[in-house]
Amino acid sequence: MLNETQLQELARRYVSFYLYDEKSILESTAQLIRDFEGIQFLYSIKSNHNPDVVQCILSNGFGVDAASLKEVEIGSENGLGQTNIFYSAPGKTERDIQNSIHRATLIADSLNEVERINQIAGELGLTVSIGVRINPNFTFDESHGVSSKFGIDEEQALAAIPLWQTYPNIKITGIHVHLRSQELNKETLLRYYRKMFLLAETFQTVLGCPLEFLNMGSGMGIEYSQQDTPLNTVWMGQQMQKMLQEFRLKFPQTRVLIEVGRYAVGKSGSYVTRVLDKKTSYGNTYVILANTLNGFLRPSIARLVNKYATGDFPVSSEPLFTALDAFAFLTIPSVSQKTETVTLVGNLCTATDVIAEGIILPALEPGDLIIITNAGSYGAVLSPMQFSSLDKPAELFLSQSGKIYENGHEICLCHNTK
Ligand SMILES: Cc1ncc(COP(=O)(O)O)c(C=O)c1O
Repeated sequence: MLNETQLQELARRYVSFYLYDEKSILESTAQLIRDFEGIQFLYSIKSNHNPDVVQCILSNGFGVDAASLKEVEIGSENGLGQTNIFYSAPGKTERDIQNSIHRATLIADSLNEVERINQIAGELGLTVSIGVRINPNFTFDESHGVSSKFGIDEEQALAAIPLWQTYPNIKITGIHVHLRSQELNKETLLRYYRKMFLLAETFQTVLGCPLEFLNMGSGMGIEYSQQDTPLNTVWMGQQMQKMLQEFRLKFPQTRVLIEVGRYAVGKSGSYVTRVLDKKTSYGNTYVILANTLNGFLRPSIARLVNKYATGDFPVSSEPLFTALDAFAFLTIPSVSQKTETVTLVGNLCTATDVIAEGIILPALEPGDLIIITNAGSYGAVLSPMQFSSLDKPAELFLSQSGKIYENGHEICLCHNTK
């Protein structure tokens, strides 16, 4: 990580910025590959599409979970072929399908979409292997399914297979399920994976041919709040090995995929913003920061949800909101003679632009910095940066060798990073 002087130097150039740490990203992604032998990981680009971040994760052997044509293109530009880019999203347009059909494995999200892909493949003179996203007849916690805008209900999909098998331009070769993000209970995740292996068996039997891939989606959470316990991926990997051994008896060739966004990058990013002003009003001290709601939305959403929900523990709704204490607010200078109770607000013309209320921090003055943790995933990509036409935060990448990059270009600091 950078020291205070280096961060201050960056803050003089950029009024606010994200800083992604390569070393930390490489560690979290290598850990998954090491602990889950036999599983292939996909990076969910939607969580953070910064080019340096994407390149870093793919360099560790990840494939791509693409949620749009643009994300398919990012995968291709990084040298991945069709079998390592999985394009799964509801409501793909004809253009999306036409332009991704050569580059990605398409995952149909509805009965209509299976038909549409078959038609477009026919028009292009192709026969393509595709997957279908299934809304299974179970959830993480229950043994029955629930209604969803995503995927095709398990029963509908199984009933449609005879029809799909008459379509000349597609072949169903895989299934994809994604039910939940930010799960920190390792037993719950394992139980879900077990259900997924059984689902694969059902589909393979009805399809009457080997499944080429089983994409189990995401679910792995990270510790945001102080009450959160990190996932024990060593233990999970060992349990997964036992399940895989059994699975391999009936599925010797099937690729088993897990997607992650936040696990790869969530804890590897910080958001740095500058104190622009300070004032008191009827006994409250307000510290006014640059680009909060419009630069890193999630802490403001946490405040909003808390304000308008009933009860002390509003239900989390990822990726927008996890927990009230999901983000730590560190200060630079980090020490001060005195502390004070403040409300941290942003510089937008809306009273909803609040990221912390009544917190005790070292006394801050204009020009000082606030660093917000856990900003690596669903940070820049979720924030409404057009509001008030303010400058957007920069996105900086700190390489393992200590160099800093913005959009692939090195930034030189007067104070060396190594
Ligand atoms: C289909 C799908 N896969 C993977 C993810 C990534 O989830 P996470 O960042 O929690 O790993 C998401 C997130 O919304 C998703 O919708």
